[in-house]
Amino acid sequence: MEKLMIAGGYPLKGTVRISGAKNSAVALIPATILAESPVTIEGLPDISDVQILKDLLEEIGGTVDFRENNMTVDPSSMISMPLPNGKVKKLRASYYLMGAMLGRFKKAVIGLPGGCHLGPRPIDQHIKGFEALGARVTNEQGAIYLRAAELRGARIYLDVVSVGATINIMLAAVRAEGRTIIENAAKEPEIIDVATLLTNMGAKIKGAGTDVIRIDGVNHLHGCEHTIIPDRIEAGTYMIVGAAAGEGVLIDNVIPHHLESLIAKLREMGVQVETNDDQVFVGPAEKMKAVDIKTLVYPGFPTDLQQPLTSLLTGAEGTSMVTDTIYSARFKHIDELRRMNANIKVEGRSAIINGSVQLQGAKVKASDLRAGAALVVAGLMAEGVTEVTGLEHIDRGYSHLVEKLNGLGATIWREEMTKEELEQMKNA
Ligand code: EPU
Repeated sequence: MEKLMIAGGYPLKGTVRISGAKNSAVALIPATILAESPVTIEGLPDISDVQILKDLLEEIGGTVDFRENNMTVDPSSMISMPLPNGKVKKLRASYYLMGAMLGRFKKAVIGLPGGCHLGPRPIDQHIKGFEALGARVTNEQGAIYLRAAELRGARIYLDVVSVGATINIMLAAVRAEGRTIIENAAKEPEIIDVATLLTNMGAKIKGAGTDVIRIDGVNHLHGCEHTIIPDRIEAGTYMIVGAAAGEGVLIDNVIPHHLESLIAKLREMGVQVETNDDQVFVGPAEKMKAVDIKTLVYPGFPTDLQQPLTSLLTGAEGTSMVTDTIYSARFKHIDELRRMNANIKVEGRSAIINGSVQLQGAKVKASDLRAGAALVVAGLMAEGVTEVTGLEHIDRGYSHLVEKLNGLGATIWREEMTKEELEQMKNA
């Protein structure tokens, strides 16, 4: 098992290229199940979640060719194989196999998904949607069983604005008989990306990216080629890295419009941010000012960037408050930041950060993907060396993190953990 070593304080400069969006990829790959001929997705990120989904498609009989970030899936020989255990439990997004397999085979058995622990993460809205479409859904020994004699279009109002439920219902509804209307739908760019792929496959979808999505079911979906959108959360993380330790960092292959909330907050902090069609430049700030942040559904400030931004705010002048309205327990990185000398307290859903602190290198552990990103940002800002364990979380979502940061002039490397460290970790 490896750990990440970061020697802090090196100024970063140069260009970093953003990979394809993880949260699109994990839905686009299952969506290929719905087609009857090969689908190619170009520009996928090199992350473990993508690898696991590829293995899962092969497990159900798909033929997958994955090289140089492009994946071609031939779904013609797939069967509705139950997946109650095993790899499905490794990532949260395996729930998209439910919608896709239900759409294609009218039945599916999928183990309840794993993923980052950020407080309760129910899937009741997904299930409500599947049931409205005519499926019988039961939970048996930790696996969700879905079965439908036929799927019929329905009007579905989401009680909670959910990215996962919106996409999952879309996946099943494209093969339902008649019209489905999803009201109070989520509007994230990843939803538009999935709708674009499905439309290229022959689906009839209107309104993706607004809060009402209309889907007219079709009997057949065919293969196509699709290029994934850039990862706005990876881009946002590098923007924060640029503000934390940069002397001018150009983030390439971005859709700046997807990052307006972060751009506004960084500017409010006094950070220089310039944008053009597909790039964002983050310049140094003389002095960063504290800001308050509340995470919201898109286009509000993304919960996924709350954790890395918290690290940045330890260096800002004044007191900042970060409130997460999406997840109740997305603060596991705070204890680790405290180990690094941060002055932060958590009250309910808010973290109160007293800034102007010089972080110190320490041994810390990433409890989830974006907590890992927060610790990397902190490590780059800190004096001395920071050791980050829990790399498996970071590898789920950041493609070539070490190479990309070293390319900007950081001093960061992976190192095998010693036997004693592994022993300590087991006993912790
Ligand atoms: N919720 C429900 N019931 C549901 C579904 C969601 O109560 O049936 C609640 C959740 O508990 C949460 C809120 O609704 O409080 C929003 O959850 P949502 O369903 O939108 O989240 P998700 O689809 O499970 C995706 C991303 C997350 C990101 C959230 C919010 C993927 C695979 N994951 O999760 O990304 O935080 O949307 O934007 O797309 C990450 O990338 O680190 C990550 C966790």
